[in-house]
Amino acid sequence: MRISINKIILTIILGIATVIPIVAFSPHFASTEFEKMNALETQVLWGIDVDNIYNNIKVLSKTPRVAGTAQEKKAVAYIKKQFESYGYESEVQSFHFNSYTPPQTLTLSIKGYSQRLQPIAFEYSVNGDISGEIVAAGLGKMEDINKLDLKGKIALIQRGEITFADKISNATAKGAIGVIIYNQESDTINGSLGDTTKTSVPAVFLTKEEGDDLISHLKKNPGSIGQLNIKGASFNQNTSHNVIAIKKPVKLNNSTNNIIVIGAHHDSVAGAPGANDDASGTAMTLELARVLKNISSDTEIRFVTFGAEELGLLGSSHYVESLSEDEKNRIVANFNLDMVGSKNAGNLILQTIDGKPNLVTDLSQEASEKLNGEPTPFNQGERSDHVTFAEAGIPAALFIHHPTEEWYHTPQDTIDKISKSKLQDVAEIVGLAILNQIVSENQSSK
Ligand code: BES
Ligand code: ZN
Repeated sequence: MRISINKIILTIILGIATVIPIVAFSPHFASTEFEKMNALETQVLWGIDVDNIYNNIKVLSKTPRVAGTAQEKKAVAYIKKQFESYGYESEVQSFHFNSYTPPQTLTLSIKGYSQRLQPIAFEYSVNGDISGEIVAAGLGKMEDINKLDLKGKIALIQRGEITFADKISNATAKGAIGVIIYNQESDTINGSLGDTTKTSVPAVFLTKEEGDDLISHLKKNPGSIGQLNIKGASFNQNTSHNVIAIKKPVKLNNSTNNIIVIGAHHDSVAGAPGANDDASGTAMTLELARVLKNISSDTEIRFVTFGAEELGLLGSSHYVESLSEDEKNRIVANFNLDMVGSKNAGNLILQTIDGKPNLVTDLSQEASEKLNGEPTPFNQGERSDHVTFAEAGIPAALFIHHPTEEWYHTPQDTIDKISKSKLQDVAEIVGLAILNQIVSENQSSK
């Protein structure tokens, strides 16, 4: 954070211009638009209590909060209770997703071949215990396998050019009962078949060294029989949740009907308490809900914490899909707070999916310039829930510090690494940005 002279001067001016008359006379004293704005800015900026944010991060980050677990449910109940304690009605929006448990047993052996193979399962590899002739099938493209007889056989396919899932479905279309894919490079990969429903035959991955050696063995020993066993993989339907609190608009004659969504994901990855990722954004969403509660505006503000972001932005996708066309058209901005308080990360940046400015970056830059003397920079990034909103045509941006702390997604993402001054800085920028938008709307609709 930069505590700039501007921020200090702004605070003093706002204090003199508003607090003294408010204390001396009444909260309705400020009569001009300028004084009204100053009073509101004071109410928001002075209203932010960073200890509330910090304490909520502390509560939320006692355990990991993996989507679909009891710990996520506990966090959801806590967030709902907090919204309610600020005077909001709060709704829990639940949704289902498929989770995959990888196999416990995975073996591949080839008759007459003594090298020990260490096959790796793909995410979504299905169980099966099969045996059949191993046939080299190039890259597994249709032109590679058209002339091959794969019926009842195991296809041995090199990685590259088309997806793993497409290789497997091409081979199964030609009758293969199992697939082995081997790397064409010496890197390690965490391969996924992309979708729980994509494949029906057991499939495994081998390294480049294993694959190359197997290919030369097959050249010398055509017709070699392989045995592939995958056991213990399972697919389960699971449930995660979004928590929603809505600040209702005050209806004016000429209301804009606009909606702003402020959001953060409350889930974490396994093993990580996720103090910064993203209890920080969740706790900041709560505090902004508290502070903005009594600011009267004709813009509706929705505070939403999303589940299952870490599993592929599932909660925000469910939320956006659940909106009507009318609601989508009325949402003018999505502020996505994800990793907003690490001591060990760099400076604040904003990210949009196309790297271009939009209403959220404009408002935030105007606010940060006023508060810190310089506008927060922005760049391109597609790694969090703002993507879902942006893809639905809604101006959206992520607030994050860059570069990221080194213990991102590890057990070390704990409360002791959280910086109150970073939290204060982001909360002020977002609070002021939203205030400026809802106040200018109030005025334009008069
Ligand atoms: N908070 C991160 C996103 C992030 C991390 C953005 C570092 C920029 C720098 C988020 O929770 C996350 O981990 N996202 C996943 C992608 C998501 C689609 C599963 C990621 O970036 O790997
Ligand atoms: Zn995150």
